[in-house]
Amino acid sequence: MGPWLLRWDGEARNEVKMKTVLILLLALFFLQAFSLKAQAQNPGRILVAYFSWSGNAKAMAEQIAAETGGVLFEIKTVKVYPDTYDECIDVAKKEQNDKARPALVENLPNIADYSVMFLCYPNWWGTLPMGVFTFLESHDLSGKTIYPLVTHGGSRFGSSLNDLKKVSPGAQLGEGLTISAFDRNPKNPPTVKSPNSDVTKWLAKLGFNR
Ligand SMILES: Cc1cc2nc3c(=O)[nH]c(=O)nc-3n(C[C@H](O)[C@H](O)[C@H](O)COP(=O)(O)O)c2cc1C
Repeated sequence: MGPWLLRWDGEARNEVKMKTVLILLLALFFLQAFSLKAQAQNPGRILVAYFSWSGNAKAMAEQIAAETGGVLFEIKTVKVYPDTYDECIDVAKKEQNDKARPALVENLPNIADYSVMFLCYPNWWGTLPMGVFTFLESHDLSGKTIYPLVTHGGSRFGSSLNDLKKVSPGAQLGEGLTISAFDRNPKNPPTVKSPNSDVTKWLAKLGFNR
């Protein structure tokens, strides 16, 4: 092998090394850009889970998500509740008496990603709608802080805070908020005004709005 060939060999090897380093640097750059984007899409690891029949708890959840950058998740039962108020309260009462756990259309796959959960629900017969129990019982919520927002027709939290504590042992219950919003017709727009200044003040007090 002549010396010229050795030299060529060495140069070629150097070039390959340089190219490899360049490719690695580029890959690192794209990985970094990708993870920053993912972080920006989910800045505070905040989950905003809600159940709603006539749209009020949903409107409040949407406001919380918009003001905190949290991720919205609907707790939706497979069973569809009747559109008529009188029928709906009968179905809900029976479910409560039966201690039913109605199945959900979808479960949250990545609860471990969140450290904070806002939980929005209407007061149903003095407590959480049964589908919210299904949701709470099917996830490991230990170590998380739950901030409840309850919409109601007069009985505020009812016994829902105690019930919430019972079904989510290991989670911390943060300060909640009640919003008066009685609604009989799920086909009409919700009665609650959105954005609601009480929600904004509550989030500011908790240190959440951005
Ligand atoms: C099945 C059912 C049970 C209810 N039970 C109560 C109750 O015990 N106390 C109360 O203050 N309001 C009660 N309400 C009124 C709701 O809490 C109120 O309309 C709520 O703000 C509606 O929220 P949504 O629009 O997100 O469904 C009940 C409503 C329904 C449909």
